[in-house]
Amino acid sequence: MKKIKLFDPYIDKSERSIINRIFDTGFWASGAGTGYVRKFEKEFTRYVLAKDCVAVNSGTAALNLALSMYDIKNKEVILPSLSFVATANAVIENGGIPKFVDVDESTLCIDSDKISKEISKKSQIILPVHFAGLPSNIKEISELCNENDLHLVEDAAHAAGSVYNKKKIGNHGELVCFSFHPVKNLAMPTGGLIAINKKNHKMVSQDLKEKRWCGISNRSGVNYDVKNMGWNYYMNEFSAAIGLMQLKKLDKSNNIRKQISKKYFEQISIANKMPFDKDCSYHFYWIRVKNRDVFRKKLLRQGIETGIHYKPIHTFSFYKSKIRLPISEKVGKEIVTLPTHPNLTENDVEKIIKTVNKFT
Ligand SMILES: Cc1ncc(COP(=O)(O)O)c(C=O)c1O
Repeated sequence: MKKIKLFDPYIDKSERSIINRIFDTGFWASGAGTGYVRKFEKEFTRYVLAKDCVAVNSGTAALNLALSMYDIKNKEVILPSLSFVATANAVIENGGIPKFVDVDESTLCIDSDKISKEISKKSQIILPVHFAGLPSNIKEISELCNENDLHLVEDAAHAAGSVYNKKKIGNHGELVCFSFHPVKNLAMPTGGLIAINKKNHKMVSQDLKEKRWCGISNRSGVNYDVKNMGWNYYMNEFSAAIGLMQLKKLDKSNNIRKQISKKYFEQISIANKMPFDKDCSYHFYWIRVKNRDVFRKKLLRQGIETGIHYKPIHTFSFYKSKIRLPISEKVGKEIVTLPTHPNLTENDVEKIIKTVNKFT
């Protein structure tokens, strides 16, 4: 039986041939971010219409660096708990305090109505996650940021190509963090990026570039200075070159994801499922089922791989949180994620719909 994978990078000859070109030149990586890395940054900046973009080696690195641009020591960052743990880890890494807010049950993005209650004198940043590629309520969250003198940083790990108010995600928050992990809509062996929309974008971009390569600054030949702390977070040439090819077909591949998700929305008969929104990039499609383990095993026996995204972060022992977030907790026990990648055939999609309907 053919196995239907939950995630599967969408590649063709173009990725293979550009990789061979890198082997031919022998230039694999540089902390200075030249070559394909700079080309990728330029193209992505054009794609999301940000002021500038800085490529790094993961979405986690993007979040860590983005938050390092603010002084959040002992300050609060408001974020959803229903996310990959890297979102909250970045807050801890920078000495901040994660302030988890429950999600909206229909979108699974942070519930903007519940944010106000959590804003305090300690609040610094609101960090929404565009869950599964569905844009969070940026308009309301931006207003809250303006009213309360807070910064907006977005976790857009799932949202390459998503749109909000006719603008691509990447064009809103002061800093917007993307992941290009191989499972993501724009896949690389490993990669991430920070889109910058701040007024002082040139300075921010320079700072981020120094931080992504061990703090190295003022380079002239073999001389350089180190004025600040930095890390080894730079992107390599293979990732950037694959990213350039993936970016060319991102809208096409997201359209395929959308068509698949529309079919799920229209034909999966259970009520608890992801809404259809033409502006969503559909990194995956979620449904909610009771008796999840049995359900997932039944699907796997039919060759259909599914996932669980996510166990709420506040329930992990490292976070030792006593707060209750009823919707995130309920969803965390019921959510099942279905494949939406462009390698699915029509037969695969039909089989997934039929099998889900049979076992729910
Ligand atoms: C919502 C979210 N944020 C951040 C990340 C971290 O990205 P990366 O795996 O590229 O470090 C991920 C990756 O799965 C994610 O899903």
